[in-house]
Amino acid sequence: MTKVSLAKDIYWVGAVDWNLRDFHGYSTSRGTTYNAYLILDEKNVLVDTVKHTFFDDLVAHVSEILDPEKLDYIIVNHVEMDHSSSLPKMAKLAKNATIIASERGKDALVEHYGEEFANVKTVKTGDTLKIGARTLTFVEAPMLHWPDSMFTYVVEDKILMPNDAFGQHLASGARFDDEVDQHILMEEAQKYYANILMLLGPLVTKKIQEVVQMGIPIDMIAPSHGVIWRGDPSKIINAYAAWAAGKAKKKIVIVYDTMWGSTDKMARAIAEGAVSQGVEVKMCKLRASDNSEAMTEILDAKAVLVGSPTLNNGMFPTVGSFLTYATGLKPKDKLWSFFGSFGWGGGAVRAMTEMASKVGFEIHQPGLQIKYVPDQEDLKKCFELGKQVAAKIST
Ligand code: FEO
Repeated sequence: MTKVSLAKDIYWVGAVDWNLRDFHGYSTSRGTTYNAYLILDEKNVLVDTVKHTFFDDLVAHVSEILDPEKLDYIIVNHVEMDHSSSLPKMAKLAKNATIIASERGKDALVEHYGEEFANVKTVKTGDTLKIGARTLTFVEAPMLHWPDSMFTYVVEDKILMPNDAFGQHLASGARFDDEVDQHILMEEAQKYYANILMLLGPLVTKKIQEVVQMGIPIDMIAPSHGVIWRGDPSKIINAYAAWAAGKAKKKIVIVYDTMWGSTDKMARAIAEGAVSQGVEVKMCKLRASDNSEAMTEILDAKAVLVGSPTLNNGMFPTVGSFLTYATGLKPKDKLWSFFGSFGWGGGAVRAMTEMASKVGFEIHQPGLQIKYVPDQEDLKKCFELGKQVAAKIST
């Protein structure tokens, strides 16, 4: 394999998972990568490992450059298994290597892989490790996105290795941002933020401010998934700052499912009403778009309308799944409204409204229920609902 160099003596040694389509429930239509980095100096350092099914790739990539026995340190920036599940086998090959993690990382390693990891060296924010001509600085990043998460910064090369932060699930033969389609890159970065980090927006803002205040220059951001940001790292930092601040446009996302087409007709009429006000609309029918695709659209939208037919006095199961996911991720500063068809007792609109109220979502009232099949009068009401929500987010 062609060696991929980030800077002199710093290499990408990870793995490309071209065929991954489901990352613990998040759809990954473009696959992903598990990035690990090798730094050669007086002391040789491996930063992170890869998912255990790609252990052989990791070993092959490291071995092309260095005998794994000659590793002096293995840094574990994050214990989630897509990055650490090759560690137990790698530690056996790199038998002289000291493993470095945050304090919480050490605890998580023991929880995952047993007491043999109880003696790892722990570091905290501001700690440094001199490895020869280079210095590594560590920055803890708790809950970005696990308690153990931390960043490693290569001082002399100005390279930040923040593990999951700033990643994208994007398999590619390219390793750098300036080698891939920019639209696809930002689309995947947005999807990644929406589904992995959205809930943690305030912590993202705080961490970005902290790194800025530390005054560390960043020429390159080398995350643990996707391509490395070398062209203009501020592009993704600014995008994160905007997403974390809840910046949104005049856009409505209509997320719904349907049994016999009535809720679908309602959704289309609502969309027409919103479009008539010059607002951008995205439709996500939940058996065509999955939860993670819907959340990606919601990230930069000002309003979300959710539609469900009533089934067994409650929500349709796909809509229940979506709302469970959405209320967990708690998108910031959105206006929500609910609609749907019913046959006799109803219940879906009430159930959706209650679920959203419990987590404090702002709700446009009243919701809209239509019995059986919407007639022209009913469709006018749907059109009006679309218009009203569009008007509200346009002020
Ligand atoms: Fe890519 Fe939190 O693991």
